[in-house]
Amino acid sequence: MAYKTVKDMEKKYKIITYGCQMNLHESEKIAGILRELGYVDTDSVDDADIIVFNTCCIRENAENHAFGNIGALKQLKKNNPNLIIAVGGCMTQEKGKTDVLKEKFPFIDIMFGTLNLEEFGELVKKKLAGKKKVIAIRETEGEVVEFDGAYRTSYPNAWVNIMYGCNNFCSYCIVPYVRGRERSRKPEHIVAEVKKLVAEGYKEITLLGQNVNSYGTDGLGVSFAELLDMVASIEGKFRLRFMTSHPKDFNEDVVKVMQKHRKILRLVHLPVQSGSNDILKAMNRRYTREKYLQEIEMLRSYFPEAEVTTDIIVGFPGETEEDYLLTEDLVKRVNYASAFTFIYSKRQGTRAATMENQVPEDVQKNRIMRLVELVNSLTRKKSETYVGRTVEILCEGYDEKKKMYMGRDEFGRMGYFESDKDEVGNFVWLKITRANGISLYGEIVEGTQE
Ligand code: SAH
Ligand code: SF4
Ligand code: F3S
Repeated sequence: MAYKTVKDMEKKYKIITYGCQMNLHESEKIAGILRELGYVDTDSVDDADIIVFNTCCIRENAENHAFGNIGALKQLKKNNPNLIIAVGGCMTQEKGKTDVLKEKFPFIDIMFGTLNLEEFGELVKKKLAGKKKVIAIRETEGEVVEFDGAYRTSYPNAWVNIMYGCNNFCSYCIVPYVRGRERSRKPEHIVAEVKKLVAEGYKEITLLGQNVNSYGTDGLGVSFAELLDMVASIEGKFRLRFMTSHPKDFNEDVVKVMQKHRKILRLVHLPVQSGSNDILKAMNRRYTREKYLQEIEMLRSYFPEAEVTTDIIVGFPGETEEDYLLTEDLVKRVNYASAFTFIYSKRQGTRAATMENQVPEDVQKNRIMRLVELVNSLTRKKSETYVGRTVEILCEGYDEKKKMYMGRDEFGRMGYFESDKDEVGNFVWLKITRANGISLYGEIVEGTQE
């Protein structure tokens, strides 16, 4: 007879995350809460005692993906009635979605939303105490709740929320409906968290918000530029980045702070969404292509090499071929380091969902193919210009497939290299020897290491 080891008897959790950095970091908070309750992590759903889905609803395929994966657990739950299945994140926060989930997947034990994440531990306790179904979704956002128990799994990077929610109501976007209004964390809490992370050895801090440039406008009296200055003034060798900037609020004050501090990456994620003023207007983005291009010019007047990444939607209602070509034109002018490209996805409850002139699927698909091709060709060309240069890389991990270490330089470009020792968390200087698509390959240059 096989004896069970202590390890076998430990209660295990598995968290499945969809969506953005915000959600990835929230999964770290969920993990912290579960560890507090005595659970340890496992890679496999088969030996988990609790499985948590942290969902996203930004596009229809994100939802379908989660639906598919939750549905696939039906049998597992049948075989092991003690297994707890919890669903949280943006999808459960969507109006009416908990009813859909309840009907489709009656075996879900716990549902919680983005606005009451911190209550998750209490909900698990209720379930363990014998409650059949625990459903707790807050309708409105409350005060910011400080939580310092995240179990981070992204060393040497650490994500730090500076604000929650979004006030922008871009007409296609569901985020304001599922994340509530903007709430900024107090600067002293943010600074204290970053100081602690740097002392623990984290080497790259990413400040997170849906629109970081409107930080503090909810009455804090501290602007994003001021906050960035405070955080960048923390001693120690680490890199600092922030996302997402909204072009309607991105400004020179922020770029001046970037200039003051070497720590801040020369990289800005500035989602443009479209290059056509008509479409930008219909999207309720509140800037024009001219203003956007001026911002890029301003940024590059400080840092000629600054890299910009972006998000683009094609096939928004009413988008004509002419509008689309304006997007292509803007992409070429900005010469993005990379771009996330999406086909417009209709989201119930948003303004764009009721717009006429929805673009046929075949037209959307044709445009996305052309756009991806354009972005890739620009990226390839750009990468080739780095061959022969020496760049400082922060090593982030080991790529099992390539059998190489990988990391990014101060412009956010990915570099791969070989080494005999564990380099994760180290800053290394690489001489770039070849480029392939978005990736650079190089050799460690001895002597320039710090
Ligand atoms: N707050 C950030 C990002 C939010 S979501 C910002 O303002 O840019 C990330 C990206 O998803 C968006 O930038 C947008 O390009 C895309 N997106 C949002 N809603 C979408 C929809 N309904 N269909 C397709 N893409 C969408
Ligand atoms: Fe969505 Fe716009 Fe808010 Fe970004 S700024 S989260 S795209 S509503
Ligand atoms: Fe992020 Fe998706 Fe929610 S992109 S904010 S997890 S809807």
